[in-house]
Amino acid sequence: MRYFSVYEGTQLVGQVYLHDIDWQSGEALIGYDLFEPRFRGRGIGTHALTLLQQYAAASTSLTSLIIITVEDNHASRRIAEKCGFVPTGAARENLRWIVWRWDVRRPLALRHRDLENDAL
Ligand SMILES: CC(C)(COP(=O)(O)OP(=O)(O)OC[C@H]1O[C@@H](n2cnc3c(N)ncnc32)[C@H](O)[C@@H]1OP(=O)(O)O)[C@@H](O)C(=O)NCCC(=O)NCCS
Repeated sequence: MRYFSVYEGTQLVGQVYLHDIDWQSGEALIGYDLFEPRFRGRGIGTHALTLLQQYAAASTSLTSLIIITVEDNHASRRIAEKCGFVPTGAARENLRWIVWRWDVRRPLALRHRDLENDAL
């Protein structure tokens, strides 16, 4: 688990995290929520998810991030879509859940460093 608290200013408003991390396959699931309705619908979720994607790309070897949303959670589906996740079908556990995937895009500088390491 890689867990991050989400703050607006000094106020704790939510959480975003990687869980069920499989370092062998390079896949991890994402969870997010803002604790109170008054914090929602103001772009905080999109911002937090973007930062988590940047963290995964810059600081982990993960290759694929996964979000599972329920069919009628429109805000959750929308932020997945806005952050570049692609719906890949229904979850095995429940056909009403949607599985979204994002292939981790590494920053260019990191890719160059990877290449140097490969050459050593
Ligand atoms: C899901 C959640 C983290 C999203 O964070 P957020 O800060 O509310 O999301 P944002 O404000 O960044 O973006 C929400 C988007 O969904 C859209 N949206 C919200 N409610 C919607 C609805 N009922 N129908 C359609 N679109 C909706 C908004 O219009 C916005 O899209 P836009 O920027 O294109 O207008 C937050 O709403 C939350 O904590 N919800 C309760 C817990 C939860 O559902 N967690 C996820 C479980 S998978």
